[in-house]
Amino acid sequence: MQSILILNGPNLNLLGTRQPDVYGSVTLDQIEAQCRSKAQDAGISVAFTQSNHEGTLVDAVQEASSQYDGIVLNAGAYTHSSIALMDAISSVGLPVVEVHLSNIHAREAFRHTSFIAPVAIGQICGFGAHGYILALDALISYLEAET
Ligand code: DQA
Repeated sequence: MQSILILNGPNLNLLGTRQPDVYGSVTLDQIEAQCRSKAQDAGISVAFTQSNHEGTLVDAVQEASSQYDGIVLNAGAYTHSSIALMDAISSVGLPVVEVHLSNIHAREAFRHTSFIAPVAIGQICGFGAHGYILALDALISYLEAET
């Protein structure tokens, strides 16, 4: 059975109350439940985790290489700053789908740059919580095509 890690970065634990005009009112727990339901339908397993700490996210990417077939990653603000996360993704060579609830390209200029995008197989943004389902779907199709 294929296995996917869904990894969330800083401040995403506050979804539901955090700037609902930008990020919507769905909580991270609700997103996790939706992802688990999608995974069950697709016959794959998922792990879902969140950290506010860059090093913890780097550790999670490194450790994923021996446990998972791919990663759905919302790196939050580290998207726009973390060379360490970018290097970790390059180092493990797992397929990563980058996801953002908001359309980062329609926001402040500093959000237009993603250090994740060059090392991801693709990026999904602007579809709110549903983006996680779209990202999972994309990664599942990618993994199916690979095997
Ligand atoms: C985000 C977009 C980032 O720019 C921001 O720092 C976040 C959330 C999103 O899901 O839209 O924390 O990754």
